[in-house]
Amino acid sequence: MVLTNKIITGHALEILKTMPECSVNMCITSPPYWGLRDYKTNPVKWSDGWEGELGAEPEFNQYINHLCDIFDEVKRVLTDDGTCWVNIGDTYGGSSLNKPYGIKTKGATSFLKNVEHLQKTAHTRGKYEKCLLLIPFRFAIEMVNRGWTIRNVIIWQKPNATPSSAKDRFNADFEYILFFSKNKKYYFEQQLEPLKQSTIDRCKTGCGLNKGANYQGLNKENFERLQQRMLDGTIKGRNMRCVWSIASANYKGAHFATYNPKLIEVPIKAGCPEGGIVLDPFIGSGTTAVVAEKLNRNWLGIELNPEYTKLAEERIKKGT
Ligand SMILES: C[S@@+](CC[C@H](N)C(=O)[O-])C[C@H]1O[C@@H](n2cnc3c(N)ncnc32)[C@H](O)[C@@H]1O
Repeated sequence: MVLTNKIITGHALEILKTMPECSVNMCITSPPYWGLRDYKTNPVKWSDGWEGELGAEPEFNQYINHLCDIFDEVKRVLTDDGTCWVNIGDTYGGSSLNKPYGIKTKGATSFLKNVEHLQKTAHTRGKYEKCLLLIPFRFAIEMVNRGWTIRNVIIWQKPNATPSSAKDRFNADFEYILFFSKNKKYYFEQQLEPLKQSTIDRCKTGCGLNKGANYQGLNKENFERLQQRMLDGTIKGRNMRCVWSIASANYKGAHFATYNPKLIEVPIKAGCPEGGIVLDPFIGSGTTAVVAEKLNRNWLGIELNPEYTKLAEERIKKGT
């Protein structure tokens, strides 16, 4: 039996290995990004023999392998119709390594002092200097190599993005949410967004059908049926698009890298039936649990730092 509505404190890779296969419906999470932050966790052991905190690896390829080793286990514990949603940001190479990409820097300093020695020899000097490392895409490609199907790249656009001092590039105001499925067929509750007024107006005027044009390949009869359903409100909206404009989180607790609860509402509604189980292997301050409970889903969290487990448990009790 899988535990639910609990946070297990420990290294995600090791905890996941103890869980039964096909036991959770979906995974949504935000792992530590590469080279950006210190979550003050104890160093953990990886299968390649390296010991340290996820995200502090001297090479980004090593980070991607470690991350994918964890997601291999996530895949095993997901039900066969399960999906996995990963919020992940990018990093610039070389001298810009200490400048987070589109996210807040608070808490980053001590970590960066610790990894200064890594930066000196980091492979992101030289040819990668100033180069956006495209970590989310390298990660996505490795996930596909390991058997996942990627279904969408969702852009989380942040209207309140941190300003940047860079003058030779644009200010990045987004991160990614990568949406993977374990198999080709999977549970997915379609999510709708409101129809544009311009679509309704065009529909009212007949979309030029009276002039011999056709609308999305429909003949006159089928168009009129669609028009009727659109105007009488039977069609409630259009399939949701992939650019989501949502402010970054403003959670006031002691965790500095939380995601906005609004960001994960749609994935949870789309990916997990009511009463199902949502897994977050990097649960941090517990946002996933709070949203899952609000949406009548069960949840299971893993967190390496016991201080964050405590913080999350208090937050979940309050339900905010
Ligand atoms: C980006 S934060 C997640 C924040 C979370 N989404 C929220 O809204 O609060 C990543 C979390 O992963 C935890 N972590 C780092 N390495 C871990 C590991 N090997 N196993 C489990 N958790 C780990 C960190 O302590 C941190 O709390």
